Amino acid sequence: MKSRVLVLSLILLIQKGEIFVRTEDEDGFIEREGVHLVLNGSPFYGNGFNAYWLMHAASDPSTRNKVPTAFQEASSHGLTVARTWAFSDGGYRPLQFSPGSYNEQMFQGLDFVISEARKYGIRLVLSLVNNYEDYGGKKQYVGWARSNGQELSSDDAFFTNSVVKEYYKSHIKTVLTRHNYITGVAYKDDPTIMAWELINEPRCTSDLSGNTLQAWITEMASYLKSIDENHLLEVGLEGFYGDSYPVRKQYNPTSFQAGTDFIANNQIPSIDLITVHSYPDQWLPGSSNEAQTLFLNQWVNSHIEDAQNILGKPVLFAEFGKSYNVSGYSPSERDQLYNLVYSAVYLSASGGGAATGALFWQLLTEGLDSFRDGYEILLSEGSSTASLVSEQSEKLSSLRKKYAG
Ligand SMILES: *[C@@H]1O[C@H](CO)[C@@H](O)[C@H](O)[C@H]1NC(C)=O
Repeated sequence: MKSRVLVLSLILLIQKGEIFVRTEDEDGFIEREGVHLVLNGSPFYGNGFNAYWLMHAASDPSTRNKVPTAFQEASSHGLTVARTWAFSDGGYRPLQFSPGSYNEQMFQGLDFVISEARKYGIRLVLSLVNNYEDYGGKKQYVGWARSNGQELSSDDAFFTNSVVKEYYKSHIKTVLTRHNYITGVAYKDDPTIMAWELINEPRCTSDLSGNTLQAWITEMASYLKSIDENHLLEVGLEGFYGDSYPVRKQYNPTSFQAGTDFIANNQIPSIDLITVHSYPDQWLPGSSNEAQTLFLNQWVNSHIEDAQNILGKPVLFAEFGKSYNVSGYSPSERDQLYNLVYSAVYLSASGGGAATGALFWQLLTEGLDSFRDGYEILLSEGSSTASLVSEQSEKLSSLRKKYAG
């Protein structure tokens, strides 16, 4: 069965005039089956990274080659998933400079990111808007609607105002139906893209009941799926618990509320993949490393259990990291944090559980100092953290080989 699929896909590739032979493993859409991501019939595990800067670097001729450099370094450490921004709304070097109007040079940068990712065997998670004002976000969309006569009191009108919602839907449609100028493939038909993300770290503090975000996710998820049924969809959640499962609220960072509801939001049927972000250094500022480690251990494991037992969907630790730019930082504490996340993922995955991978924040390469934020890892520096990254890639890759028999 397996070899027949391989032969068939090789024939199809030859018919499409592909110039280089790709293995069966690298092609096809990543899909969901129960609590697993699946590629060509066996579980797919993604060890990966965040690199929000890819489109920006790619669209500037002076930094374009940083994209293949970063992918090459990532790939040589076994990394197979990258999460990045498919948005830049208004402001400096926008992708979308006003509602529905796009900067072709930036789009061609994103095209390049996708075509290079494919060459290096890297799958992409593409986020469609920001909760925060970096690269535009909710604030820019609401600002556009205000300029168009809407009276809106808060940026959270992003989630409710009908004009803003139409702007955002139009962005979804523009990105998903974009034809890559290098490969000719429409984004919605491109298996290099592993998943769409509705919004990076949604928060709606004006409605802590969670109802506003629940309604917005439901509406936007079904809109996106009406355009693209091929790709996985995730929300972009950090993972804070809400009222649908009060007993879990004890695992939130100290009485933190964001108007999100990890369980209810992820129960929405069009959501395929669960995400969790983990920043104990930001969420428990000033607390000891021991306290942050204790928190993180509970945070990671409670989300894996819920993905497995309540939600029945795979969970991706889509952001985690530790800043060196905080007093008391030591590299061994960063390694400890990476180890904790990686071990929990591997323990779950090797037992057939719902954890599907982890993406550290953030990968950088030489010559991009303006994108430093205290969390960056330059794999070429060969740090102890870089070795942990490689080890995790190897473990997850042999797990996939084992399951594939
Ligand atoms: C480190 O923190 C300082 C003070 O908050 C900030 O100005 C600086 O930009 C940070 N450096 C990096 C690389 O993030």
